[in-house]
Parts: sequence; structure tokens; C-alpha cells
Amino acid sequence: MLNFMINIAHKKYEIMDFTVHGDHNGNLISLEQDKNLPFTVRRVYYIYDIPKNIVRGKHAHKKNEQIIICLSGSCDFILDDGKTKKTFHLNDPSKGLYIGSDVWREFSCFSPDCVIMVLASTLYDENDYIRDYNEFLRIIG
Ligand code: TYD
Repeated sequence: MLNFMINIAHKKYEIMDFTVHGDHNGNLISLEQDKNLPFTVRRVYYIYDIPKNIVRGKHAHKKNEQIIICLSGSCDFILDDGKTKKTFHLNDPSKGLYIGSDVWREFSCFSPDCVIMVLASTLYDENDYIRDYNEFLRIIG
């Protein structure tokens, strides 16, 4: 598991399948440092009550890595490494979308009950954001 986690940290993005501890009492997922997380989590935030036709994100990060978990409902993440775009439909809290640095992301198509939790490798720093798409293309070369 640890080797898998080290490998994922070298990828641009990847779907992670979490182990579900489930029985007749319901489901539980545990995210634990050095076991099933590819980086040290320094920040957690969550997004909810998102109007249906809004597009969020529209940025990349210089350093920050993230794991996106759609805890409730569904939404679409469009990831762009400057060469190709890929859409991920998130609707399962047992999966995480790992996003490395230097990936442009836009997310949309939120269901009314959508709750997105983000685990981040860095503290909040506006200087880590690339908010201009042309600057993003220039930086990634
Ligand atoms: P932003 O990252 O632009 O949101 P999104 O990518 O989901 O569209 O952040 C929205 C606002 O929240 C912005 O004013 C910065 C603030 N913010 C924090 O204060 N701390 C945080 O950890 C994050 C992610 C955002």
C-alpha cells in the first residue's frame, strides 16, 4: 500500500479506491497518515450548497496536492495537464480523486446535495494559485 501511495504522488491525477469497512451497521472509511494517504494532510476544507450552474476552480496549484472526495451527491471535475483534458464524475464517497500540482481544474454540475471534502498538502496560500490559464500554459512549458 505504501509503495502505491509513493507512486501516486508522481502522477498528475488518479482515482483512489478506499477500503470500506461496511456491515449491516453502515460504512466507514478511514484515511490514515502513512497508510492510505500519499502526502501529509495539512488542511481540510469542504464545499457545499453550490448553485447548480456554477463552475468553480478555474485554477492550478504550484505546489499544493489534493485529494477530492465527494461525500454526498455528485459533481464533475475536469482536469487539464496542458495537453489533455479528462472529466471525472464523482458520486462515490469510497473514491478519492488525487490531483497533483500543475493541473488546471474546473468543477461543475453539482447536485443539490453535493458535499465535496478536500484534503490538501499545504496551508492556504494565495501565492500557490495559478488563476490565469495562459500563465498556467506558460509555467508548465
Ligand atoms: P477558491 O480556492 O477560489 O475556491 P474554488 O477553487 O472552490 O472555486 O476559494 C474561494 C474563497 O475561499 C477565496 O476567497 C479564498 C478562500 N479560501 C480560504 O480562505 N481558505 C482555503 O483553504 C480555501 C481553499 C479558500
